[in-house]
This record gives sequence, C-alpha cells and structure tokens, in this order.
Amino acid sequence: MEKVVNLCKRRGFVYPGSEIYGGLGASLDYGPLGVELKRNVKDAWWREIVTGRDDVVGLDAAVIMHPRVWEASGHVAGFTDPLVDCKSCKQRFRADHVQGPRCPECGGELTEARRFNLMFKTFVGPVEDTAHVAFLRPETAQSMFVNFRNVLETSRLKLPFGIAQVGRSFRNEITPGNFLFRTREFEQMELEFFVRPGEDDHWYDYWRQARFEWYASLGIERERLRLRPHAPDELAHYAKACVDVEYAFPFGWSELEGIANRTDFDLKRHSEHSGKDLTYFDEERRERYVPYVIEPAAGADRSTLAFLVDAYDEDQVEGEARIVLRLHPRLAPYKAAVFPLLRKDGQPERARRIYDALRKHFSVDYDQAGSIGRRYRRQDEVGTPFGITIDHDTMKDGTVTLRDRDATTQVRVPEDRLVEELRARIETPAA
Ligand code: GAP
Repeated sequence: MEKVVNLCKRRGFVYPGSEIYGGLGASLDYGPLGVELKRNVKDAWWREIVTGRDDVVGLDAAVIMHPRVWEASGHVAGFTDPLVDCKSCKQRFRADHVQGPRCPECGGELTEARRFNLMFKTFVGPVEDTAHVAFLRPETAQSMFVNFRNVLETSRLKLPFGIAQVGRSFRNEITPGNFLFRTREFEQMELEFFVRPGEDDHWYDYWRQARFEWYASLGIERERLRLRPHAPDELAHYAKACVDVEYAFPFGWSELEGIANRTDFDLKRHSEHSGKDLTYFDEERRERYVPYVIEPAAGADRSTLAFLVDAYDEDQVEGEARIVLRLHPRLAPYKAAVFPLLRKDGQPERARRIYDALRKHFSVDYDQAGSIGRRYRRQDEVGTPFGITIDHDTMKDGTVTLRDRDATTQVRVPEDRLVEELRARIETPAA
C-alpha cells in the first residue's frame, strides 16, 4: 500500500489535499495522471451501464436536494454511526472500530456511544437558521428516485429499465482512511434498475454477476475479487438482500460495491412524503404498481484504488529492476508513448508528427529525454501499455517498433496502421 501511495505522489496520480497548508485529514487531490485514470474508470462504467445498453438512461442531479428528501429516505433519522469520545485525549472513534473500553490512542476512558449523523449540513441562502438547513447528498441514489416520474414521462422506457448517475457524495466519516478507500467526499457510480415485483430476484442475480465480471474484464485478478452476501443482521433497513463485491486490498478484504434489492421502499417513501404518485402502469399486465429496484452502487475512487493496487508490480527486465503498473489499456492514463530513438537525423520531427496524429484518437505522451531504456521505465511505471519508437528504419521504410509494456516484446508496424493496431489492442478485454 505504501508503495502505491508513494508512486501516486511521485508520478502525479494523487496528492495530499491542501498540502501546502499541512493537508486536511483524508482529503486527496487527483493529479494529471490520476484524473485521467479515474475518468477512464468512470467512462468504462458509463459505457457498460448506460451507453452500451438500451434499457438504462443517465442523470446528473444537484448535490443539494430538498431537505425532505433525506427525511423520506431515512437518512435524517438513521444515517448515523455510533461514536465514542476519549475523555483524556478528546479523539473520537467509531464505537464499532474500537476493541474494549479504553482509547486505542492513549488508553484513556471512553464515553458512552452516541449516534452521530454522517450528513454534511449547510445553509441555503444568507440566513443561517434551522429553516434553511440543507445537506450535501450522502449518496447519488435518491435523485434517481426523486426523478423517477420525470424520466418515465420524458422517455419511452418500459420496465425493466434503469437510471444511472456518476457524481460526488459527501459523508462526514468519523474514521476515514486507507488513502482513497474512505474519504469524506468521493464519487459514486450508481444504477437504480426498476423491475416488476416478482422479477426482482432474477435481476438481483443478474446484476451481481454482471458487476463482478466488470471488474474482472478490466483486469482485476479474479482470485482477489469475491462476492460477499450480507448476513440478515447487516442488511440496511430498506434491503431485502445485499451482496458486496469485495477486493483483497493490502489492508484486507473490503467493499468495492454493494448490490442491493431495495424493493419498493424508496419509491413508496417518496410517494408518501411528497404526496405524488410514483406508481407505474404496466400495459402488458394491465395493472398499476410500485416497481422494485435493484441497485448496484459502486465508488469511483475505491475502484480506482483497487485498479491501482492490483496493477502494481515489480519485476526484472534484462537484469534491471522495474516498477510496472499493469493497468488494462482502457484504464491507462496514456495509451501510448512516442519516442524518437535518436535526437537527430529527422527522427524527433517524424516522431512528433506521429505523436500529433495519434493524439487525435488517444491520450498519448511524447518523450525524447534520456536513454530509450529509461524512457520505457518511466512509462511502465505509470501504466502506459504501448511504446512507439521511431528509429533509423522508420526513416527508410515507414515502420515503427511497437513495444508491449507487459511482455516487453516488440513488433514492427507500418506507421499508417498504428491507430488500428492500438485500437484493437486497447479494446481487448482482460482474460
Ligand atoms: N446508495 C447506496 C449506497 O450509497 P454505500 O454502500 O453506502 O451504498 C456505495 O455506498 C459505494 O460508494 C461503496 O461501495 C463505496 O465504493 C463508495 N463509498 C461509500 N462511502 C465512501 C467513502 N467514504 N469514501 C469512498 N467511497 C465510498
């Protein structure tokens, strides 16, 4: 884990947030390469869940919603963690994370546990009184329920169908930590898939398999992934069933995503609280009912961390140690890097032309500094899957070498076939 955190800082994937002011607990900033990686994760999700299907549409809703949304959803009353304070050092801990009656930091006496609501409070407008309190959303899910009617009326969707969203959520976590794993602001990738009651078990099975396969198709080792069903006493108040996709992080098996059968709980609650009809008329069956919902809820930051950790490797190439990020090409920040072998004989100019042409299609880097071996290493370390070298032969016959990051093998490819060759290699799913 430490090696991944160091690499992230050193190569511009993730920086400590507000670093020049000493940092802010569990706040992290994505740097130039991290922003590309995370965007690729979100794009891969969107393509799989929204644009790749004809039964799911997207949504991008406001972070600050009407406060009554959170009363209806149960968050005002129940989105709490048990909290204990140390009477000596004043630190706070989640009661369920502390073993025994003493403070884990200083051994002092702990207070009785009390409930602490995790929602961030703010005020809408200039008046800071209770009538103007609002919350930053703790999950993106509720806006899909609140917009259920709007989407139904403005699209021609019939059950089963889904509404998906990628966006920021906020939770005032008592014990954030493990780098990107648990922070106070994070991005979720959530799908609410509405189904006929009675077909919910089928769709629940469908989505848990589909979501497991998504991580594997983007290169995560299957033996480091598992599906863990929730025990009955673990289930959220709204769920009939829930399973977590877990990853074997260096700090132990931990949740990447939860897939829940939320039944008709949310639509019914919003209907009761808003007084609006949120039923669905099933033309085939000639009946009206409240749909059930299956919810695959993933985290963009958590999956980015899993992809990084899983990709990190150290090996030897020609007797020399290297760090390599074996990221799936679809996720890699740069798809390729272009190098002139020599800084003379017209090679840099030719390389630059190739680089400019490729950049119209992919995110590509250019590097002419240092030995070719060092340039390969620099790209291996940030996960660039392909290296393109322009050499003496390029100037004669128009072919370049295409080097594979993982196998470190090289083939010669005509310059004018590079776009096709790269595209085919990038799109290949992991074995
Ligand atoms: N709508 C259901 C829901 O929000 P959740 O299990 O609380 O369910 C879904 O959150 C996903 O969001 C988690 O599996 C995780 O990937 C991500 N997530 C939740 N809290 C997080 C945090 N504090 N930091 C980073 N990611 C978080």
